[in-house]
Formats: sequence, structure tokens, C-alpha cells
Amino acid sequence: MAKLAFWLGWIALLQGCMVKALPYDYSASIECLAEPLAPQYGGGILRNADFNAGLQGWSTFGYGSIAESTSAAGNAFAVALNRTRPYQSVSQKVYLQGDTHYTLSAWLQVGDGSADVRAVVKTVGDFVHAGGVVAKSGCWSMLKGGLTAASSGPAEIYFESNATVDLWVDSVSLNPFTKEEWAAHRAASVVSARKKTVKLQATDSSGQPLANAAVSLDAVRTSFPLGAAMSQHILTNSAYQTWFASRFAVATFENEMKWYSTEPSPGHEDYTVPDAMMAFAKSNGIAVRGHNVFWDQPSQQPSWVSSLPYPQLLAATSRRIRSVVSRYAGQVIGWDVVNENLHFDFYEGRFGWDASTAFYAAARLLDAGANTLMFMNEYNTLEQPGDMAALPDRYLQRLRQIIAGYPENGAGMAIGLEGHFTNPNIPYMRSALDTLAQAGIPIWLTEVDVAGGGPAQAQHLEEVLREAYAHPAVQGIVLWSAWHPEGCYVMCLTDNNFKNLPQGDVVDRLIAEWRATPRAGATDAQGYFEAELVHGEYKVTVTHPEFNNSASRSVKVELGSGSEQYFVDIQV
Ligand SMILES: *[C@@H]1O[C@H](CO)[C@@H](O)[C@H](O)[C@H]1NC(C)=O
Ligand SMILES: *[C@@H]1O[C@H](CO)[C@@H](O)[C@H](O)[C@H]1NC(C)=O
Ligand SMILES: *[C@@H]1O[C@H](CO)[C@@H](O)[C@H](O)[C@H]1NC(C)=O
Repeated sequence: MAKLAFWLGWIALLQGCMVKALPYDYSASIECLAEPLAPQYGGGILRNADFNAGLQGWSTFGYGSIAESTSAAGNAFAVALNRTRPYQSVSQKVYLQGDTHYTLSAWLQVGDGSADVRAVVKTVGDFVHAGGVVAKSGCWSMLKGGLTAASSGPAEIYFESNATVDLWVDSVSLNPFTKEEWAAHRAASVVSARKKTVKLQATDSSGQPLANAAVSLDAVRTSFPLGAAMSQHILTNSAYQTWFASRFAVATFENEMKWYSTEPSPGHEDYTVPDAMMAFAKSNGIAVRGHNVFWDQPSQQPSWVSSLPYPQLLAATSRRIRSVVSRYAGQVIGWDVVNENLHFDFYEGRFGWDASTAFYAAARLLDAGANTLMFMNEYNTLEQPGDMAALPDRYLQRLRQIIAGYPENGAGMAIGLEGHFTNPNIPYMRSALDTLAQAGIPIWLTEVDVAGGGPAQAQHLEEVLREAYAHPAVQGIVLWSAWHPEGCYVMCLTDNNFKNLPQGDVVDRLIAEWRATPRAGATDAQGYFEAELVHGEYKVTVTHPEFNNSASRSVKVELGSGSEQYFVDIQV
């Protein structure tokens, strides 16, 4: 009886990835700084981006007045002053290349108080909103955004604010990237954020490398969670069940867990449907997001709730949160505690500005699972650079407010971005994610769909999904495509026979591309076997022809830079 031991040494290799394109700058600042940082990409195509040559290259926009100024520390910048119109600003004329992505960034300050400032690019026939920030007085805030130029032509970059305050501008940048360069950034980021090159060494019990051992890796599970919304039709339609369960690791119940569904009349709770959906999800290994405890939009309240006087509303909301959160505590991976509280304020209007904070704190106490995420869930933060209510900056401000009144210093808080797109601004989407990523907490896209129909719908969906998957801060994606025989919210993936529409083809292609896949091969003369693996769980089996036996064990390939070693002891 010989004893054979395989040492499986997994070494994470340095990614010597060659990206020929100018690397993308993922940095962003969410701090308001005493002096601005240097312009990204040296200002890109802008001249005198740091105003060190005074106002050279810059002009006034909207018949306003501009002047140069210098800080006590000697930093030069521009000021738009005596403003009476939102668009009176410092500006620069540029020439845009068609079919090109542009990143845009700038550092802004206002003369007094704080004010919403938007970056605008005026093209022939259009005013493109390219991002925004809440600028303050006394320190500089970074605006990060972008746009895609549809056609070549002259353009002008400027800033606008409805507040008639002085507008200080510095370190502006507008940098072009071809679509190929943009795709190269994604490819590089997918390698570093979603994959790991591992090296396995097989050695025998005396430490000698085993050459020519057969290695096979079976994919057991893919780490990256991809999910979809699910409607109650899944309970009675086996084709829907098969279609869903064979694709998705996560489900969000479209409406079935919402308050208006579980308590249609006061005091009469009925969880039959969400309970059955939960049972279906569990039996198919599908994780569930809890959606939602409350919805701040007045029109989405159960009809009997809208008109309740204060004491009854207080009693009803406390019953609601205890009821739904305790029922599914430990069974969901996260909660949308107060849906859309950047755009709406039903509860703040009744209970005061800190209503959301109180609901998050209560939800956390009712479901204290270490891995349960408590999401703010909001739209337009990625979709609409022009929507000042949902700017990344505003999102983070609200999040900080909630965290300040929340136990454990914000443990478990997460960023939920709905992602209801029509014409996605991809450079803006990446910039917004860069800014949100600075908070250092998990980001999910929670309700991704693309409106519009036609061939553009599937193309846009693919762009959005690729952008989200490639961003290092994104930890999960859920599609908003719950099926109904009479049609979906704005985007179905299949027809009523569960045959793919073009959008469904996109999703299936990406599932195949992103999933952990099996590998096989033989160790080299030094006993090594190397593979680039998507994060996930694999079953490794090693066999050697000399010994008629094989060893196998489960290994997890995860983000992280340390090397991992596995020891397999085999009796032959
Ligand atoms: C701005 O307004 C002030 C006061 O009305 C005036 O004195 C000053 O000349 C104006 N500055 C510019 C650059 O127009
Ligand atoms: C200025 O106000 C209008 C009307 O309320 C609004 O639509 C627009 O977004 C505001 N602009 C900025 C930059 O805040
Ligand atoms: C190796 O194992 C297989 C399956 O257990 C068996 O059929 C075969 O005879 C064995 N061969 C040798 C050389 O021991």
C-alpha cells in the first residue's frame, strides 16, 4: 500500500494584463476639499484645464461675467459672477468625435451656501446633461460624469445652477475613449474583479512534483449573483418555473411582498402568495431580495393607509414592519427598507425628516443576520444625469443620514440602484458607480430594464449589463422582467411560450460568458496546472496514471490576493 499525497497549491498570479488603451481613471472624490485635485487625464481635450494660464481657452456662456481668481495657497481658478440666469457660466468650445465615449469631471464651489450644479454639453441641436453635484461654499466638490457623442461636431461645455450664486470652476476634464478602448477597460476590470488565475501543483507524499497528472475542475457554483424579478404566475406555470430556475440565482418578487399586496385591507394580512413564492425559490436554491417594506411614493400606499391620521398610521407602520421583516428574517438576502426615498417623502411628510432612518434601524433589529443587506433602492442615479434629486452625491448624503441613526455604525447597509434605462449614458453610468463606490459598501443593480423596444432595446441592455458586471464595486444584478401573460413592466425576456426575445438572448449569452465553467488538463513537468477561473466554487479532481485512484475536493475561488493551499491525502 503506497501512500500518495497531492499538494494542491493555489497561487493567485499577478495579472500582467496588457491594455493598450489609455487606462480608465476609476478615482472619484466624495469629500469636499480645501483645494481641488488635478484634472483627470490632464484635462483631456480641454485647454488650460487647471486655469493656471488664467482664462485662456475659456469664455463666458449665457452673457454672464467671468473672472480669474487665486486661493490663498496660490491655486488659480475661474469664477462666474453676478449670475442672474441658471446657465451663466464659464465655458469652453470643443470638437467632439462621433460614436465616442467622453468622461467628464470638474471641481466646483459656490460663493454662498450650497447649490445643485449640473455639467452640460451643448452640441449642435442638443443640450446633453453630463452629471451633477451639490456644490458648497468654502470647499471644492468633484463632479464626475460623461456622455456619448452620437456624431462629430462642435460643442461647448458649461455648468448650470438655478441658484444665482457665484460659481467657482477648476480642474475640468473631458476625455475621449473609443468604444474599443471602453470595452478594453471592461475586459481588464472583469479579469481583476471577477476572475482569478490560479496555479495548482500536484506533488506526491515525498514532495516530488507529479507530472502528467490529470486535473479536472467541475464548476459547482458561480459567485456573481444574477437575478430577475418574479411574478406570482410562477406558482402555476411550469414552463416559467423551468425557465427561471435554470437561469437565475436571485429573485425579487415584483409586487407580492409589497404592503398593498400583503395587507389589502386594514388588519387582514395574507402572505399565501409570497410564502409560496419563497418556498419555490428555496426549493430551487434561489436567493430572495425582500422588496419592499415601505415605499415612499404616495400613490403606492395601500389605499386604506393614505388617509390614516397620525396615531393610526404610526400603529399601522409599526405592525407592517414587524410583520413582514420578522416573517422573512433570515430567509432573504436583503431588504429594500424604504423604496425611493430620494424622490418621494410620504413617510417623512407624516413622521418627520428622519422617518427613513427610524425604519432602517427597526428593520436591522428585526433581521440582524450578519449577511442581510439593508438597501436604499432608488432610480435615476445611474440612468439620468439630469435628475438632481437622485445624484450619486445626494444618494450618499441620504445614506450617511440613515447610517448616522442606525445601529452598528451602518453594518449591512447597501446601495440599491434600480437601473430603469431608456437611452443609457454609459460613460455617466460608470462615473456614477465610481462616485458611489467611494462609500465602500456593496452596490447592486436591483431592477435593470431598458424601455423602447426594437433592436436598440437588446443592444442597450447588453451595454448596461456589461458595464455593471465589469465595474469592480458592483456585487449583484437583478433584471426587472417579471413575466405576465399580458406583458411585462417595460421589458420581457421571452414570449409567452418562454422562447427568448432578443433581450432574452442577450441575457443567456451573458450568463454563459459569466458562469464558472469546467476545465480539464494535465500537470506539467513541475506538476503545475494553471487556469483563469471565474469566481465560484469548483470540484477539483486529480488522478495520476501510476496510481489507480483519484482525489477530489471542493475549492472556492474568490476575490482576494492571498495564495491558498489545499492538501489532499490519497490512500492507494
Ligand atoms: C458684478 O456686480 C458688481 C455689483 O453690482 C459690480 O460692481 C461688478 O463690476 C460686477 N462685476 C462684473 C465682472 O460684472
Ligand atoms: C432648475 O430648476 C428646474 C425647474 O425646477 C429643474 O427642472 C432643473 O433641473 C433645475 N436645474 C438645476 C441645475 O438644478
Ligand atoms: C483501476 O480501477 C478500476 C475501477 O475501480 C478497475 O476497473 C481497474 O481494474 C483498476 N486498474 C488497475 C490497474 O488496478
